[in-house]
Formats: sequence, C-alpha cells, structure tokens
Amino acid sequence: MNTTRIAWTTALLALSGIGWANAAPSQERSGKVVVETVCQDCHTTGKDGAPKIGDQAAWRQRASKGLDKLTKNAITGVRSMPAHGGQAQLSDLELTRAVAYMVSNGTAADTNKAYTPSHVRPGAQLVQERCQECHVAGTNGAPRIGEMNDWRARLTQGVAPLVRSAIKGHNSMPARGGLAGMSDVEMRSAVEFMLSKAGGPAAAK
Ligand code: HEC
Ligand code: HEC
Repeated sequence: MNTTRIAWTTALLALSGIGWANAAPSQERSGKVVVETVCQDCHTTGKDGAPKIGDQAAWRQRASKGLDKLTKNAITGVRSMPAHGGQAQLSDLELTRAVAYMVSNGTAADTNKAYTPSHVRPGAQLVQERCQECHVAGTNGAPRIGEMNDWRARLTQGVAPLVRSAIKGHNSMPARGGLAGMSDVEMRSAVEFMLSKAGGPAAAK
C-alpha cells in the first residue's frame, strides 16, 4: 500500500465517521404519511389479497411471525406485495414506521428505530451481482470502482449523503441500483465496499 493510498483510506474513514454521525433521519416521513401516500392504495381495498388496514384478525395472524418478519417482507416484497411497497426510495426507517402504523391500525406511536435485517448480504456480493454492471465501465457517468478521482468530489460531505442518494436514485442511477429488495443496511455496505476499492484500479479486481 503506497502513501497516497494510506492517506486516502484515512481520509475516507474520517469522512465516513463524520458522515454517519450527521446522518439526519429527520427528513424521513412518519408511518402515517407513508401509509397514506404509498400503502393504502392496496391495503384499504385488500387488492390482490393485501391484508386490510383495520382488519385486526388478519394482521394478528400475520404479526404472529413477529413484526421483524413482516417488516422484512415489506422491504424485500412477498408474493403480490412489491418490495418497498413499490417505492424503492422508501428507507428502512420509513418502512418500519409504516408497518407499525398499519399493524396497530394507527394506534402505535411511530417507531423511531429502523429495522435491522438479521441477514445482511455482504457489500462485496451485492457490488458483484449488481453495481459493477455500471460502476466498472462508468456507464452513463457512473463513478468507477477503483478511480479515486471519480469519487473525490462526491465525498465532500462524507459517505452518508452518497448512501442516501444511492437509495433514492438520481439521474441515471436507479433507486437502490435497481434492486428494490435491498435494505438500507445493505446499500450502505455496498457503497462502502465500492469506496474501499477507490484507492487504485488494482484493488477493484
Ligand atoms: C400494489 C399493492 C400494494 C402496495 C402499494 C403495498 N402493499 Fe403490502 N401487501 C400487498 C399484498 C397483495 C400483500 C399480501 C401478500 C401475501 O401475503 O400474499 C401485502 C402484504 C403486506 C404485509 C404482510 C407481509 C407478510 O409477511 O405477511 C405487510 C407488512 C405490508 N404488505 C406492508 C406494506 C407497506 C408498509 C406498504 C407501503 C409502504 C405496502 N405494504 C404497500 C400489496 C401492496
Ligand atoms: C444501471 C446502472 C447503475 C447501476 C446498476 C448502479 N449504479 Fe450507481 N450510479 C450510476 C450512475 C449513472 C451514477 C451517476 C449519477 C449522477 O451523479 O449523475 C451513479 C452514482 C452512484 C453513486 C454516487 C451518488 C452520488 O450522490 O454522487 C453511488 C454511491 C452509487 N451509484 C452506488 C451504487 C450501488 C451501491 C449500486 C449497486 C447496488 C449501484 N450504484 C448500481 C449507475 C448505476
């Protein structure tokens, strides 16, 4: 590892520390708002067999698997339930709040804790399966893995804003890299993996 590489890695670690400490969850919407804007389309009418809001018996049965399991299914999708309710840019925290709100028929106060999946796919795997499709060649201006210069300007505010923008998507970068079932935790680990390779082209191999 040459000195440039070490300096870069150190800067990156420092940045990520600051970035995460500043990660502002305040812009995330409440469970009520998410349900009203995204989920109730299907969950008030019972479209495609969606459990109805207020149908306590239906929810009680599903919730017996545990809220964690329900939240995981809302993130990854299950049968006719689309991943993230069809809105890939909804965060884990917003999904967690929405599930709590629906299951309790609006009586639960918003949970402020994001769901942490018990099984997190490693960043390396996700990057290999999905992200490198664009981030190796630099398709449509994607910052390239292993090219420090492509990333430097994007990192001025730390890593957290990059993770947020990769979740939401922008320009030709699809929300969650087009993998709607990826959790925020997995997105963070994929972004961190790509950045860990930013030290030099050799590292990306
Ligand atoms: C396009 C219609 C649609 C939208 C929009 C939608 N859902 Fe669903 N949802 C379904 C259907 C259909 C099921 C039943 C799936 C099954 O069990 O076969 C379901 C099931 C669920 C379940 C139960 C999962 C389980 O493991 O039993 C949860 C929790 C859930 N949805 C949460 C949400 C949340 C939160 C939103 C909004 C962010 C949302 N859904 C938006 C159609 C939808
Ligand atoms: C279909 C092509 C494509 C795929 C697949 C893709 N990206 Fe991207 N990505 C882009 C493009 C294009 C940009 C540059 C967008 C811009 O800034 O205009 C980008 C930008 C980014 C950025 C920088 C965001 C910023 O705010 O500067 C991050 C981080 C990122 N992608 C992460 C990922 C991760 C993680 C994956 C895999 C889960 C992934 N991308 C998959 C095309 C892709």
